[in-house]
Amino acid sequence: MDPISDQEYLKKEQYRQGDHLDARIQLHRRFSVNPSNYFEWMYDLLDLRAGMPVMEVGCGTGEIWHTNQRRLPAELQVTMLDLSTGMAGSARAVLNSDARFDFAAADVQRLPFSTGQFERVLANYMLYHVPDISLAVRELRRVLAPGGRLCAATNSAGHMQELGDLMNRFGLMRSELHDFAARYGLENAPAILGESFEHVEVIPFIDSLFVTETRALLDYIRSMVGIWDFPPGAQEEITAWVNAEIQTNGGFTIHKASGAVLAW
Ligand SMILES: C[S@@+](CC[C@H](N)C(=O)[O-])C[C@H]1O[C@@H](n2cnc3c(N)ncnc32)[C@H](O)[C@@H]1O
Repeated sequence: MDPISDQEYLKKEQYRQGDHLDARIQLHRRFSVNPSNYFEWMYDLLDLRAGMPVMEVGCGTGEIWHTNQRRLPAELQVTMLDLSTGMAGSARAVLNSDARFDFAAADVQRLPFSTGQFERVLANYMLYHVPDISLAVRELRRVLAPGGRLCAATNSAGHMQELGDLMNRFGLMRSELHDFAARYGLENAPAILGESFEHVEVIPFIDSLFVTETRALLDYIRSMVGIWDFPPGAQEEITAWVNAEIQTNGGFTIHKASGAVLAW
């Protein structure tokens, strides 16, 4: 089965706990050139108000909430769900037992809630993992209250192209790594969400990485789907290539193509 949407593989290996996702978030946090913080920008788009019932599914390590924890209304109830119990546990640890959050394991294709329960629903960087995306989108629509809003961020096809090229050059790029945006990306999000929502708005966040530390990039590569063992010699070759790039140009530039998708 395709590892992108193999739920057993995702639950038991890739997202068993927060470490792989965290290596990727750290690279963005440390080397992004846009001075605005991506998770603060995204939080502003949610337009949250005190007392709103909110749900995030595929919550991962809870980075959007952790980044904005001090800005959250005192009265807020956020239900955090993830397919992986370990990942929900990582989010709980990061949010430091904040009483506004509760955590559970659940599949977005079968949400354990009645209809119209939430004012805001987040499903960021997760729909491309789901076997039946249309079913998931119907579920997200169903649990939203009338007038409620979904945020389902994702990447576009050219996201981190230079990293893909680097991995190709050293025999590390498996074909499925290209398929995230083909399953659910900024290009096809309007059609996919449009099956269940009347309005869909794609809001890109313009940014790139300027990576000045080889080790952080290797940690990122190691964390990605399906890449556990480097072919013999590949790690040394990539290290030498990135070191040379940093020495010559001061850093390795990787363009991003990512953004929020709002639907209501
Ligand atoms: C790339 S992470 C995104 C984390 C977080 N939303 C963020 O923006 O940082 C994808 C998450 O989706 C979860 N996931 C994958 N399939 C899922 C499903 N069917 N239902 C719920 N969560 C799922 C994974 O366990 C993982 O934690």
